This record gives sequence, structure tokens and C-alpha cells, in this order.
Amino acid sequence: MRGRMRKTAYQVTIAIDGPAGSGKSTVARRVAEKLGFLYLDSGAMYRAVTVFAIRHGIAEDTPKLIDMVKRCHIDFADNGKTILLNDENVSTDIRSPEVNSLVADVAKIPEIRHEIVRHQQRIGEEGSLIAEGRDLTTIVFPNADFKFYIDASVTERAGRRLAELRAQNVDTTLKAVEAGIRARDKKDTSRAHSPLRIAADAIRVDTTQRTIDEVVDFILGQVKSKD
Ligand code: DC
Repeated sequence: MRGRMRKTAYQVTIAIDGPAGSGKSTVARRVAEKLGFLYLDSGAMYRAVTVFAIRHGIAEDTPKLIDMVKRCHIDFADNGKTILLNDENVSTDIRSPEVNSLVADVAKIPEIRHEIVRHQQRIGEEGSLIAEGRDLTTIVFPNADFKFYIDASVTERAGRRLAELRAQNVDTTLKAVEAGIRARDKKDTSRAHSPLRIAADAIRVDTTQRTIDEVVDFILGQVKSKD
């Protein structure tokens, strides 16, 4: 993974964690645009490694995967909207159903996490940044200037996911989507390494009854109040 520049004193880091479907990616992307910050979608990096694992038939072969991950070049372009795996745009591939079902197992391997976290920290040295995922407030940027934990009820998150799937003509039910979300929450919160948890100094934001714009404004308000 490639080297980056050093962070300077006036650079700001905003770290956001939260469960799948909480709205944190949309919120983080919009805040990044409004503040002119870099946007780091940390889940996309675990997804890119999973694409690599599937293509090389090593998703089940942990030692080989650990060895190969060191040779993966993962980069972002278009301020975080495009992800490159060894210079190839894999932004669509990382959202495939196959990746969806394998990524949690790849993301739980400590050596893979170690590589990815180091790479994320190097990206963090590049400039002011807003980063989101499951361990950004706790492990990747424990000294972030601002920390948020974005949450929503399981039913609300399942409803949002169902709407997305229906828009893609995927035939499913709220009950099935809700079961999938509960299973992912369980994997994310109960794994041995870097489980999803609320950092003691994070501000918790529940998006169940709030629009994306309200949450974006709340975060911008917090950041600007400390200017
Ligand atoms: O946020 P997402 O759905 O794109 O995340 C994909 C997977 O990666 C999910 O299983 C959780 C995991 N992940 C992680 O372990 N740590 C992160 N910082 C981000 C995502």
C-alpha cells in the first residue's frame, strides 16, 4: 500500500462509526463535500480486499490472503467516490452480493485489519478528513477531533435497505432484510478484533426520526462551534 504525506497541526479529523444502514456513509459524504474534506469509506477497503480474494480464489485461504493483501494497492479517486484495486476501478464490483456475503469474514482477520488500518492512518495524514466505518473512533483515529456514533433502529435501517433493493428490482421482504441486518450487526459487534462499539467520547446520533440533512447540519454545527 502506498505512502502519503504527513499531517499538519491545523488539519481536522472527523471519525464516524455505526452499524450497517444507519446512514453514516451518506452523511459523511455530504459533510466532506460541505467542508472540502477528504472522504474515507473504510468499508470499501475491506470490500476491495474481498474482491481480490474472490478473483484469486483465496477467500477461504486465510494464510494466502494475509500474504497477498500486502501486495494489494488500494487507492481512492474522485474524493472517495471511486475505489481502485491495483489501479482498476472496482467501485461497482465491491457492492456485489458475493462480496456482501463474504466481506465480514475477510474483515474479521486481524492481519488484514492491521494492514488496512495502517493504510487508513496514512490517508489520514494527507489532510482534513471525514472517515466512517466500524472502528474509526476506537482504533483507527482514537485521537480524532470529532467522533460520532450514528445509529438507527433495526426496522428503520431494514426499511431503508428494502427501498434500495426494490429500486434495483430485487424481490425481497422487510422480514428477510431485517434478519440480514440483525445477522450483520451480530457479526460486527461480537467479533474478537475491533468490534463495533460506541467510543466513550463519541456523540451518539440516532437517525431513526431524523433526515440526512438534519444529521449533516448537526455535525456541521458541532464542528463549526469549535472553530
Ligand atoms: O460499511 P460496509 O457495509 O461497506 O462494510 C463492509 C464490511 O466491512 C462489514 O462487514 C463491516 C466491515 N468493516 C469493518 O470491519 N471495519 C470498518 N472500519 C468498516 C467496515
